Parts: sequence; structure tokens; C-alpha cells
Amino acid sequence: MDWRRTRIKDLFQMEPGSKVSAYGWVKTKRGSKAVSFVQLNDGSCFADLQIVVDAGSVSEEEMKKVTTGACVRFDGELVESPGKGQAVELKGEALEVYGEADPDHYPLQKKGASFEFLRDIAHLRVRGNTFGAVSRVRHRAAWATHKFFEERCFDWIHTPIITASDCEGAGQMFAVSTLLEPDEEGRLHLKDSDSQKDFFGKPAFLTVSGQLNVETHALGLTNVYTFGPTFRAEDSHTSRHLAEFWMIEPEMAFCDIEGNMNLAEEFTKYVIQDVMDARADDLEFFNKRVEPKLLETLEHVATSDFERITYTEAVNLLKASDEKFEYPVEWGTDLQSEHERWLTETKIGRPTIVTDYPKEIKAFYMSQNTDGKTVRAMDVLVPRIGELIGGSQREERLDVLEARIDELGLPKEAYWWYLDLRRFGSAPHAGFGLGFERLIMYLTGMKNIRDVIPFHRAAGQAEF
Ligand code: 4AD
Ligand code: MG
Repeated sequence: MDWRRTRIKDLFQMEPGSKVSAYGWVKTKRGSKAVSFVQLNDGSCFADLQIVVDAGSVSEEEMKKVTTGACVRFDGELVESPGKGQAVELKGEALEVYGEADPDHYPLQKKGASFEFLRDIAHLRVRGNTFGAVSRVRHRAAWATHKFFEERCFDWIHTPIITASDCEGAGQMFAVSTLLEPDEEGRLHLKDSDSQKDFFGKPAFLTVSGQLNVETHALGLTNVYTFGPTFRAEDSHTSRHLAEFWMIEPEMAFCDIEGNMNLAEEFTKYVIQDVMDARADDLEFFNKRVEPKLLETLEHVATSDFERITYTEAVNLLKASDEKFEYPVEWGTDLQSEHERWLTETKIGRPTIVTDYPKEIKAFYMSQNTDGKTVRAMDVLVPRIGELIGGSQREERLDVLEARIDELGLPKEAYWWYLDLRRFGSAPHAGFGLGFERLIMYLTGMKNIRDVIPFHRAAGQAEF
């Protein structure tokens, strides 16, 4: 068996009369004594191939094994489909059953199972309509990302997963250590509390962001990006946070906050347009079943300008509104998800970039404005999601950056190499991080971030 074979999406393009084989997993089987109709899917597109099997044309014993979830191959002739929708269907003439799926035990039986239930069978849910579609959209968005950057001469940098520095300075890191040992009962024991005796000779963690590392390459290669998994030990049980998520982080030398906003807007629109073109079948499904008006809003975003306002303007808008917010808004407080969504959804009605946040609520590396109070930060907010992107122009002045690190009481020695970038050949530069799962939520209309990644990791959740 070779991996090269005609997939179901290709069969739909072939002429009636062709002799073909169709491999896949059975969605449903129905019919009468005289004829059976099998819906077969192999993940290559949203549509199932219909297979029509006349009684007696394949072994009845084998046909009994064709149940929901079973893995099979049908050989036969493509014929014009009398039904609407597909041009062709397969007249089944031979059948091979690779793997049965006992109907009394196969968990993915019913149509319309809840997303919560499906999360508990994440190893099987990709065979269903929704998660097959999510996976294809996710793949395409990742591919579009690399295409976008390749077309603009950005190099992909593989930044490390294990790191000793806390990029965001928010203390949400998972420790990486070989000093902890589980015993037979699963209890953990600390072999030694001296971190010098640990694997790396000092405390090490899973990265919260590849930014600090990717900055080093922007100051040498000019335009770069990193795209990989990042980790945050935040114990928030929200529909927008994961403990392990993927982030796309471009970083550009000779670029300021304006250029950064331009790239963020261009990138977001590009990926949306690309996925709309390449995965129209899947988006159609989400539009029908998951988020009404999905296509309308994506089309709108792909073609209209993002609003740009400052944090101070955003706070004024929020304070002047009649909306009852759970959290009060004052200049200096961080915007909560409810505020972000009100701004972009209700007040402005399209993606909105908020800039110039108070320095107290943003990370140490952001470029300081001359007012002494704000930094050149930018958050891109989109309807339904809230914050999709966080970024900034970086502080390129050594003295200002050192003073800020001291002010925040961060361990300056640990950042020696990051400070070297300002010591030697510093340049204005900027970048951002886009949460890939939030983008997939936006593209699909899925409401819970746990349902747009194959195997979600969140507090108390590390099955599979
Ligand atoms: O705003 P954040 O924390 O920014 C950074 O990490 C910067 N170092 C990025 C940079 O400038 N290179 O995170 C960036 C984005 C957020 O806007 C959000 O979309 C996503 O990452 N994000 C999460 N997504 C899922 N689960 C979480 N726990 C997330 N935390 C952040
Ligand atoms: Mg942020």
C-alpha cells in the first residue's frame, strides 16, 4: 500500500464511468433490503462520498461490518449522482473492511453530540464533521501563515521551548526539572532543592513567548518570525485560555509601532482571505451550524480598515457608555475581556487596535513614550474574541531598558544577552504575538478554545 492514492476530494472531480477505490471511515449507513447507502469520509474535504451498494453485489457478511466508525475500502464505478449536492457517487462493487467499530461500544455514534462530550473523546472526534473541519482550517491557517511571511522575505526562526528567562515577567511559567521524581504511588519527591544540581544548572522553564529570542535574529536578519508552542501556567478556566497554545510572533528591525500595526492588519486579513478561498466548504458548515453570519463578518474584516485608538480614548469610550460592566474601568487598569469585546463588537463594530497603554500594565521591554506614563504597546481586538494580538515597539535604548528592569525588580543578570542587543548595534524594532487558537476560533466561530486544538492542555486537563 502506498500513501499516494486518490482521495475523496479528488474523486468528486472525476468523470462518471471511472473505476476507482475509496478509502475512509463510515459516517452512516442506511437503506433497505435492496440497496444500502454508505456515507464515507477520509478527511480530505467536508463532503462525504456516497456509496450505493445493491443487495448481492458485495458479501452480505462483510456489509454487516460496515457500521458507523468502521474503516473500509469500496471499489467500484463512479456514477452520476441523482441527488443534489454532489456530482458523483460510487456504485460499490467490492468491499474490504480494515477495522470494525462495534456499534454497541463505538462512542462517536450520535449526530449532535455536545462539544463537551466530544472533548472527552478527543482521540476520535476528528472523524466527525466539526473537528474534521476545524483541523482542515487549522492546517490551512498555518500554511497561509508561512506563505504570507515567505512572500514578504521573513525568515522562520525556531526559538527554544526551554528557557531560563520569563519574557512577559508575569511569573506564569512551568518549571522544567529532573530533580522531581514520582514514586510508585504517583507522589512527587524532590531529589535536591539546589537548582545548580538540576539538569540545566539553574532553574529552567517552558517558554511563555519566543519574543526575546526572536528579537536577537531580527537584529541581524531584519525580518523574522517564530511560530511554535508556548506555555502559561495560568489557572484561568475561561473559554479563551489554554496552558499550551501556539503563537505566531513576527519581529522586524527598522520598524516602529505604525509599521507593526500595518503588518498585524495585513497578516490577519491575508490569513482570513486565504482560508475563505481554500476552505470554503468547511466555513460554509461553520456558518450554517456554529456561528450565523460567520462568512459575512469574515468578508467584512478581510476588506475593511481596522480602527486605531489609544488606550486613553478606549477608557473614555468605556466610561461614557451605559453598559453595565462587571469590572469597573479607570485609567490605569487593564482592560478586561468584557471591555475589549464591547469596544470592538458594540461600539466600533470591527477589529480595533488599541495603543499606548499605561506602562504599569505592560511588559518591561516595551518602548516608553515621552509622557513618562505610557508605552508603545498595541493590542488587536476582534469581535467575538477580544484580544487576538498583543505587541509593541521594543525599547531600544540601553539606559531606559535597564532602568525599567531595575524599577520592576527583575533579575537583570538573567537578561544580559537581551541587553547586549542594545549595547551592540541596537535598532528601532517592533513585533507582535498572535494567539493561533484565537485566530482559529475567529475563523470557525467555535466558542471554546479547547475545541480548536487537537488535544487541549488546561488546568486539570492533560488527557491524551
Ligand atoms: O499578549 P501576549 O502575552 O504577548 C506576548 O507574549 C508577546 N511577547 C508577543 C510579542 O510581542 N511577540 O500574548 C500574545 C497573544 C495574545 O494576544 C493572545 O492571542 C494569545 O497570545 N494568548 C493566549 N492564547 C491562548 N491561551 C493563553 N493562555 C494565551 N495567552 C496569550
Ligand atoms: Mg496581551
